[in-house]
Amino acid sequence: MNYQLSKENLLNKKSDCLCLPLYKDGILCSQGQQIDEQLSKAISKLIEQFKISGDTGKATLLPLSNDKAQRILLLGLGEAEKLSKSAFRKAAKALSSNLKDTNIESLAIDISKVALTDSDDSQKDTTSEIILAIEEGNYAFDQFKSKKATTSLLKEISFYSDNDNIESSIKKATALSAGMSFTKDLGNMPGNVCTPIYLAEQSEELAKTSDKLSVKVLDEEELEEMGMGAFVSVAKGSVESGKLVVLEYKGADDANEAPHMLVGKGITFDTGGISLKPGPMMDEMKYDMCGAASVLGTLKAITQLEPKINLVCLLACAENMPAGHASKPGDIVTTMSGITVEIMNTDAEGRLVLCDTLSYAEQFKPASVIDIATLTGACIVALGDAASAVMGNNNDVIQGLLEAGKQAGDKAWELPLWDEYQEQIDSPFADIQNIGGKGAGSITAACFLSRFTKEYPWAHLDIAGTAWVSGGKNRGATGRPVPLLLNYLLSKAS
Ligand code: BES
Ligand code: MN
Ligand code: ZN
Repeated sequence: MNYQLSKENLLNKKSDCLCLPLYKDGILCSQGQQIDEQLSKAISKLIEQFKISGDTGKATLLPLSNDKAQRILLLGLGEAEKLSKSAFRKAAKALSSNLKDTNIESLAIDISKVALTDSDDSQKDTTSEIILAIEEGNYAFDQFKSKKATTSLLKEISFYSDNDNIESSIKKATALSAGMSFTKDLGNMPGNVCTPIYLAEQSEELAKTSDKLSVKVLDEEELEEMGMGAFVSVAKGSVESGKLVVLEYKGADDANEAPHMLVGKGITFDTGGISLKPGPMMDEMKYDMCGAASVLGTLKAITQLEPKINLVCLLACAENMPAGHASKPGDIVTTMSGITVEIMNTDAEGRLVLCDTLSYAEQFKPASVIDIATLTGACIVALGDAASAVMGNNNDVIQGLLEAGKQAGDKAWELPLWDEYQEQIDSPFADIQNIGGKGAGSITAACFLSRFTKEYPWAHLDIAGTAWVSGGKNRGATGRPVPLLLNYLLSKAS
């Protein structure tokens, strides 16, 4: 799709469809009124005739017999004073779905006077929301379908505005959409295709697209040699070899500037191992690599935007399977850090691959480390699909993530990582065990990770509730938390 800024009058250039905001009770914005005048009140006559209300989330596509445009799309925005970012997101979705299955190829849109109650830069945010909604609407994962999804005919959207800032918003939203689509593709890919090797290969392909990005893949033997007993204890139950993928993006003027780091859980299928999961919905455990997928999606957007930061990404990739050579409950392993772990439940495998990966991160002397993981079912119980959970050892990092998520409309919420919870992972036989007691499952999982992140500012994002939509016909990966992560990293760029 081609998105562009146009500073002319909306009617100067011919397009297939004009899109104008419409407020409650059928009121056009000032621009709309001007255009209405130029079109001899054709628009207000249609509003009158079809009693178009302008309620939020209601977009109406009407024929307009005019040589400047064949159609008009009235974008309902409700009460102007109450228009929030999330309400506008609804409207953008309605716009996107209205354009589907039409023969509209070019759209001219003027939302330059739309003001959002909770935005510092409404023009940037509204432009971005439209692009994200259009790209989301066009997303299809149909590579395994004999009959492909119908593709939209829409080719060009022109945003009418005199604000040059919109250009950067178009660029960012386009990169973000590309990153989210990549994350969704990886997440939706079935477990028989998306294996640890597949994630490593995808990383290598991505690295080819940017000379600022390099990649290294460590295989299971190398992990063993480095003393990553916890990581290997998970990988060894599968015929698929475990991989640790290391991606380095160098964008800062100073190549030695301390990097920020993203660490993704890449369990390409989680059966639970010997502590086998129940059958129903186990298919969804193909999404257990969505942490790694969100890291790759964010990195894709970063390579397109080329911000001045250094970034190191680690993907902890393995398949968690039951087997004769798999770990058993009660087994004790030694991590790279030297801490010994009693594996009380082989289904708490995410923290086992992550703990060694987090120790590996130390050598980069990072400015901050964020790990992203579909770590606990308990997180879905706590927060549902509204927010990812955040916990960490550094308030600046935590607040930075919360703020980035708020700005992006990709929310996160902090859970308390208090000392009171730490004793739940004490073990009588090893230094720690890999599960806590009955309560606070998301927090005790973070407690476990906190034992391996003492050397740097760190935060953990549990995305179990946000990474995919469960069950039903609309099931599939969401691309979250790429918007949050991208905002966070861009806020660190100089
Ligand atoms: N990948 C799962 C967490 C998960 C489960 C995410 C369901 C989304 C939906 C993780 O590896 C896991 O199995 N966690 C266990 C931990 C327990 C054994 C302490 C869980 O949440 O049940
Ligand atoms: Mn598990
Ligand atoms: Zn898992």
